[in-house]
Amino acid sequence: MPQTTALTNIAALVTNDPAQGDGSPLGLIENAALIVEDGQVAWVGPTEKAPPADTAHDAGGRAAIPGFVDSHSHLLYAGDRTQEFNARMSGRPYTAGGIRTTVQATREASDEALAATLNAHLREMYAQGTTTLETKSGYGLSPEHEARALRVAALSDVDEVTYLGAHVVPPEYAHDPDAYTALVAGPMLRECAPHARWVDVFCEEGAFDEEQCRTILTAGREAGLIPRVHANQLSYGPGVRLAVELDAASADHCTHLTNEDVDALAQGSTVATLLPGCEFSTRAVYPDARRLLDAGVTVALSTDCNPGSSYTSSMPFCLAIAVREMNMTPDEALWSATAGGARALRRTDVGRLTPGCRADVALLDAPSHVHLSYRPGVPLVSEVWREGARVA
Ligand code: NIG
Ligand code: FE
Repeated sequence: MPQTTALTNIAALVTNDPAQGDGSPLGLIENAALIVEDGQVAWVGPTEKAPPADTAHDAGGRAAIPGFVDSHSHLLYAGDRTQEFNARMSGRPYTAGGIRTTVQATREASDEALAATLNAHLREMYAQGTTTLETKSGYGLSPEHEARALRVAALSDVDEVTYLGAHVVPPEYAHDPDAYTALVAGPMLRECAPHARWVDVFCEEGAFDEEQCRTILTAGREAGLIPRVHANQLSYGPGVRLAVELDAASADHCTHLTNEDVDALAQGSTVATLLPGCEFSTRAVYPDARRLLDAGVTVALSTDCNPGSSYTSSMPFCLAIAVREMNMTPDEALWSATAGGARALRRTDVGRLTPGCRADVALLDAPSHVHLSYRPGVPLVSEVWREGARVA
């Protein structure tokens, strides 16, 4: 018989199951308990109704939330871009040109160095309440370097791995971007597909145009990968509509949207993943979350953690910005950072705390999840459980 552990004395438990507790989208249960069995949630409900368990852990009146689902990061990299950030904060614009700096350093790094950097960020993320993480390649940009980055990720505890050969055109193909597109959609894809679940493209002026992105995403789909798109980050463009057309799991960034883009998202099933750390770190205008939510679009929040445009690993930080700067309510932001991220990764086992889901729980040094945005910058995440085991 597997052992059961009861997490008791939770002041307010967010389940993200509207059938629980107060019936809101967050399914909030006050004075709650949660029972874990075999790494999964076995039971949630009010403490007084909790069935007996083999061991108990007293949450001491803290709030509990599902671990954050960070559905967009770029952590397979080496090198440092502090100077680029410094220059930006002195008035230089962000152009994504710095990606090439990281590519050079990443190609020169050993597998061990890549793995060490990835794992260090993963631990940093666990400590801040993230229990599900997606990460992508995109700083190798050759079949050899992209495939080895994905292998490193596949061997780690990262949950979801994405092939982003189409991040930018590397210098050796600057004279012939279409030849690089053919490489990404052909030989590079064949080497990379076994190590990834997703295929991503950076659809932007100066990166890849609509036709190039369609070619790569379609080839990726034929190789068994599911599309997602870096769309409408730096300018208006075709990315969001292409994502919906191809039924991509998510369109990420969504900073510059026309009414047609919003309508397309509202009619399709593609999740809009907003990455406010990026606008914060590039001094750009934030995406209009309110407009998307009011149109009925499913919104996810994620860090986009990468050494260039958004070097934060903190979901609580992104959530606080989304509330203050993007007109999301604290409840909406928490939902988007947990259940929304799970939707963007097409996962039903994370982002919620309901029987059968992975027992991924963050305990907060606070009586309510609202404190995540009410007390910005305060390290409120005090205990983190992933698959029923303590990770921070
Ligand atoms: O999501 N937009 C493209 N890629 C990253 C930035 C990567 C970098 O600057 O190194 C992003 O913001
Ligand atoms: Fe990104």
